Amino acid sequence: MTTPPTAASGGVVTDSPRPATNKVAVIETMTTTPTPNQNQTQNQPTPAAEPPVCIQAREFNSWYGDFQALHGIELDVPTNRVTAFIGPSGCGKSTLLRWFNRMNDTIPSARASGTLDLHGTDLLSTRYDVVDLRRRVGMVFQKPNPFPKSIFDNIAYGPRLHRRYTRSDLAELVEQSLRRAAIWDEVKDRLNQSALGLSGGQQQRLCIARAIAVGPEVLLMDEPCSALDPRSTAAIEDLIRDLRHQYTIVIVTHNMQQAARVSDRTAFFYEGRLVESDETERIFTTPAHRETEDYVSGRFG
Ligand SMILES: Nc1ncnc2c1ncn2[C@@H]1O[C@H](COP(=O)(O)OP(=O)(O)O)[C@@H](O)[C@H]1O
Ligand SMILES: [Mg+2]
Repeated sequence: MTTPPTAASGGVVTDSPRPATNKVAVIETMTTTPTPNQNQTQNQPTPAAEPPVCIQAREFNSWYGDFQALHGIELDVPTNRVTAFIGPSGCGKSTLLRWFNRMNDTIPSARASGTLDLHGTDLLSTRYDVVDLRRRVGMVFQKPNPFPKSIFDNIAYGPRLHRRYTRSDLAELVEQSLRRAAIWDEVKDRLNQSALGLSGGQQQRLCIARAIAVGPEVLLMDEPCSALDPRSTAAIEDLIRDLRHQYTIVIVTHNMQQAARVSDRTAFFYEGRLVESDETERIFTTPAHRETEDYVSGRFG
């Protein structure tokens, strides 16, 4: 899988050393240097093609008993990007998210029609191995839910279910997962202590590390910051930005600023329907639908 070009790679050419013999010329060049944006466009290869679709919903409907919670959802979730689900409470965001890893299987009244594909395979099929699906599509909940076990065992639990590890391989996997979730430095000296002794923000990063440890492709996050203070929220947002090119992330959030800060694409739901889904910037500046504009500008919801 190729890594998308970063801002840093676009800046390399301008940063190359210039001969310092003619200061004036250097200053002139600097003052006439194109703005970073123009410059990046010139130096970068043509932008990569649209990322492949990771999860695709077509004519997707969902019910709880007689109540239809989702109507005719058509959605493409791009691979290795952050997609935000926004919309008023009760509009079906969590319901759709839970279908992505078949969490709704545990709700007897829940059923669905239409298709939901994960990289082209129908994940709703009864033939789909749900254990494998949940390894590929991990979930992080609103309220951090570490197991009442040590920090180490929280991370090691999932990998141990899936295969046998030597002690040192497991220790390395635990460290790697905690590092990726940006919490290693805070817990490395207390791996054998209970995870329940961590702060809420640390617990949430631990839960992200636990999800990462089994090697998922997709991370689903249902309002992962709503129980956290602003500082822990900022830490999770930083983490989401760090993880965005390795994982397909879908985040439900009530916080418009958060959606704008962390996501590449935003999907706006209203009363069980997907009103529109587009580049995040477009949703927040020039949405196609009036309801979206009213919602993102805080006129309702
Ligand atoms: N387990 C359930 N049983 C019955 N109805 C449910 C259940 N979960 C959610 N609903 C209903 O489905 C609708 C969508 O809920 P949900 O997906 O949780 O919305 P959101 O996450 O956007 O707040 C709501 O009307 C809610 O009351
Ligand atoms: Mg919800």
